[in-house]
Amino acid sequence: MDPFSTLIRTASHERHVEAETSPFMTALLGGRLGVDAYARYTEQLWFVYEALESGARDLASDRVAGPFIRPELFRLAALERDLGHLRGPDWRATLTALPATRVYADRVATVARAWPAGYIAHHYTRYLGDLSGGQIIRDKAERTWGFARKGDGVRFYVFEDIANPAAFKREYRALLDGVAVDDLEKQRVVAECRRAFSLNSDVFRALGEEFPLSA
Ligand code: HEM
Repeated sequence: MDPFSTLIRTASHERHVEAETSPFMTALLGGRLGVDAYARYTEQLWFVYEALESGARDLASDRVAGPFIRPELFRLAALERDLGHLRGPDWRATLTALPATRVYADRVATVARAWPAGYIAHHYTRYLGDLSGGQIIRDKAERTWGFARKGDGVRFYVFEDIANPAAFKREYRALLDGVAVDDLEKQRVVAECRRAFSLNSDVFRALGEEFPLSA
């Protein structure tokens, strides 16, 4: 059997392409959307990370998920700073989850409570993505909407406490390879990872409907 890090990457590759090439992402990266669409997307991320990171605290001592819980990954504080910049000091008062975001965050919260191995699927899908393609999104956002480089508005994409993302990702893959579950459970985690990607695509679809491009 391939190392688990290879298995999960290969198994989610198709869904990755789908998320990456969604009309909303394509428009965002193509510089064809206003900053309000970027802000709305950032708001959706807040709900997802709120679920991921409030679940993380209880999982820190879990045998299976515990090794993945690394404070240097936490994004909620950075997201809140970005939202303050994007929406103003009252950002919480107007923050709303799209129905697709609610479904995604609820799934993360459920898995965090009841299924530590399944939580890893969501952890991987978000944080390894943020450390990878997230950097492309940051660069584009800085250029398109004029945020200061690695400053307010894009702090979500800046991992201040990870000096070497490539090394971090290598360590992360080693953690995946050593995950303390059997092969059947690994297959279930892979299935949950595919589901995590689809939940992201559903959010993109909803955002695409809210911010249609005029032809
Ligand atoms: C336009 C948007 C995106 C771009 C340009 C992009 C780009 C990339 C690139 C270049 C890598 C490879 C990095 C490497 O090998 O070290 C990567 C990996 C990854 N991306 Fe994305 N991505 C995007 C969206 C997403 C989304 C929406 C998700 C899921 C929410 C995601 C999840 C991941 C994950 C989990 C990996 C790690 C794969 C692995 O090595 O195991 N990406 N992305």
